Amino acid sequence: MHHFQYQDNILYCENVPIPNIAAEVGTPFYLYSHATLKHHFLTFDSAFDGIDRLVCFSVKANNNIAILKLFASLGSGLDIVSGGELYKGLKAGFSADKIIYSGVGKRIDEIDFALKMGILMFNIESMEELEVINERAAILNKKASISFRVNPDVDPKTHPYISTGLKKNKFGINIEKAIEGYKRAKELQHIEIIGLDCHIGSQITEIKPFEDAIISLKSLYNELKNIDINIKYLDIGGGLGIPYSDESPPLPSDYAKAIKQHIKDIPVKLILEPGRVIVGNSGILVCKVLYRKSSEVKEFVIVDAGMNDLIRPSLYKAYHEIKPVIKNNNKEIVVDIVGPICETGDFLACDRKVADLKKGDLIAVMSSGAYGYAMCSNYCARLKLPELIVSGNQFHVIRTREIYEDLLKNELIPQFML
Ligand code: LLP
Repeated sequence: MHHFQYQDNILYCENVPIPNIAAEVGTPFYLYSHATLKHHFLTFDSAFDGIDRLVCFSVKANNNIAILKLFASLGSGLDIVSGGELYKGLKAGFSADKIIYSGVGKRIDEIDFALKMGILMFNIESMEELEVINERAAILNKKASISFRVNPDVDPKTHPYISTGLKKNKFGINIEKAIEGYKRAKELQHIEIIGLDCHIGSQITEIKPFEDAIISLKSLYNELKNIDINIKYLDIGGGLGIPYSDESPPLPSDYAKAIKQHIKDIPVKLILEPGRVIVGNSGILVCKVLYRKSSEVKEFVIVDAGMNDLIRPSLYKAYHEIKPVIKNNNKEIVVDIVGPICETGDFLACDRKVADLKKGDLIAVMSSGAYGYAMCSNYCARLKLPELIVSGNQFHVIRTREIYEDLLKNELIPQFML
């Protein structure tokens, strides 16, 4: 359920007609619905009612501070992968004891920052990282709470770039080596073992891979118990998919039901790290048709947003539904929707049947709330676009559009070159 619906052939976000927003702020822009964000978070969280859990929103999907603040106010924790995400999370009002830190390449300054702030736990991804965290905790006179991110060798049946729980992926430690890892961690003075973690991939549209992973984790949990290592937190990562077109991923309630079934007999606090399922369908990218043109074999619609604004179609051949913001007629065309970047891979849709778009028309690139703005760049010295949020009949700018001066903000010309 989301709040981007047509009324009299005009696309609205909640009660605001999108053309009104475009007229005021220009295009392109990201647009989020406050009610949808809230609804998605609460639906996911409440699906786990009855069990002890902490939903840690995965910041990488969307790190706008206003959106983070909303989730903090709803009781969310945070899944971070960098010092920057920790910084933003704290600024947004998350308490450190609800923050977990994953990622294969944590730097010393980032580890120190997290230790000083007192985060809930580090999800350790290698034995070398374990030793470094112990050393840093010793220097700072702290104890680091940790879990190991284990790699259960489960095929999540998703795009290879976003499958993370296979042996050949760089993530976590091999599940067969985990016992050794935990034994070593137990010897370390500045480490406290509290959890067991995995994350098998993203945009997963079946329940089975999650269940396979939990079954592996549970058997590891029991083995650890037998050697007197007691796990308090079981973190099963994120990864639940969303419908971009005709996929029908499990609903949060089905997902929660399956998980509850598997963990009901073990006394752990469950941690979840959802990203996309919360924000993906809560946001869209709005852009404008600049030109139409055709070659002998193709028809192109050139819009003012490109791969630097939304990289998912170029990077993963990801499908995003394209909707006209104003439905003018029922005629349809088959086109490539492309951006202004000088790369053939710069497209938002290929060979797509869309409404008969004309110069000046607005289009909505749906399901862009996750890994949309979060992955945008200044490629081709393009200005990063603004983000807006609608609540009821009001819209608010939650990030301003960059201006040309921003492009030079951190650049320097050395004296000798002047
Ligand atoms: N936890 C960890 C450790 C992760 O690596 C990720 C995502 C998540 C949680 C959240 O996963 P989600 O619930 O959003 O599936 N840029 C790609 C997705 C990369 C996902 C990376 N890790 C895309 O646009 O599809």
